[in-house]
Amino acid sequence: MGIKIRKEIVSLSSYPAGKPISEVKREYGLNEVIKLASNENPLGCSKKATEAAQNVSEQLNLYPDPSMYTLKKDIAEKLNVDSDQIFCGTGTDLLIRIICTAIIDENDESIMGEVTFSRYKDATEMAGGKAVLIPMRDDYGLDLDEMAKAINPNTKIVWVCSPNNPTGKIVGEKELKSFIDKVPEDVLIVMDEAYYEYADVNGDNYPDTLSELSNYPNMVILRTFSKAYGLAGLRVGYGICSSYLAGYFNRVLGPFDVNAVAQAAAIAALKDSEFVQKSIELNEKGKKYLYSEFDSMGLPYIETHANFIAVNVLCDDNTIFKELLKRGIIVKPGSALGMPEFIRVSIGAMEDNKKFIEALKAVK
Ligand SMILES: Cc1ncc(COP(=O)(O)O)c(C=O)c1O
Repeated sequence: MGIKIRKEIVSLSSYPAGKPISEVKREYGLNEVIKLASNENPLGCSKKATEAAQNVSEQLNLYPDPSMYTLKKDIAEKLNVDSDQIFCGTGTDLLIRIICTAIIDENDESIMGEVTFSRYKDATEMAGGKAVLIPMRDDYGLDLDEMAKAINPNTKIVWVCSPNNPTGKIVGEKELKSFIDKVPEDVLIVMDEAYYEYADVNGDNYPDTLSELSNYPNMVILRTFSKAYGLAGLRVGYGICSSYLAGYFNRVLGPFDVNAVAQAAAIAALKDSEFVQKSIELNEKGKKYLYSEFDSMGLPYIETHANFIAVNVLCDDNTIFKELLKRGIIVKPGSALGMPEFIRVSIGAMEDNKKFIEALKAVK
């Protein structure tokens, strides 16, 4: 073949996305399949968001608003920041790539945990940089001390995923502050808060990073409409940072990277805090139920601050994954996430949590 692919792309592996329901139905000849693999919202999304999406469907011939005026204004008002501090994209997944495109040069490094969201590594490498993976602490937390020690003149970004996917652990307030103070001003700190709404800012020692933004112009916070807002299918994520950085990230983004339906639905979803509250409450209930079932089965798990739990199945996780698939339950095998012997299960509707436990008992 004459076309030469960049070496960074040749060595890229594809993202281990949760298996889609339709595929499992087809492969296993099943009518009913429950997906607890991608940390989606079991309540769906706000009715207001669905209505707003439907209204836009009358005008699909028109390009979306490239400035995303209302979406950015509403996010900014809610968070008490300026609109020009916001950048939005096709999920935070795209924003991670945008950040790397803007910041990483060939041979630059970015630092992350060994067991964290794998797209930081992919995006760094796609941009021609080197991903530096720091082993996790024994309690599966990000080892911020070692991450700080790994910073060198080539380091351009440090990634702090909190709550961390797939462990569900957060970085505490004091720990984060002492880490940030060690990061030089010319290194970008990306706080990935995709699961922000599920962590308890008041009770969990979960840091209020927004209030620190003005003190740390080298910090970016990423959040998404995919999880607690239930809009994963529409793909809207946003970043908050200094207007200086956001200005550049906005230049790298395409003018229409958030489509018209997605913009309208996200604007409406943002106003429905009742829906988000219900989602959090259901998640808490499901979390307690799953903890008690894992306890009674003698399966160790990592206490989560998100909408998924990493549970140690004390045997080959791929076998459990496949056996669960045969029974119509999709989870994520830990081996694919750097956590062999664990499976990561999204906290679902109570009925689905119960079916998952029934199936897990049958295969364990
Ligand atoms: C930690 C983390 N960050 C970012 C994302 C990407 O989310 P999205 O692109 O749907 O906004 C995910 C998705 O699962 C995630 O777990």
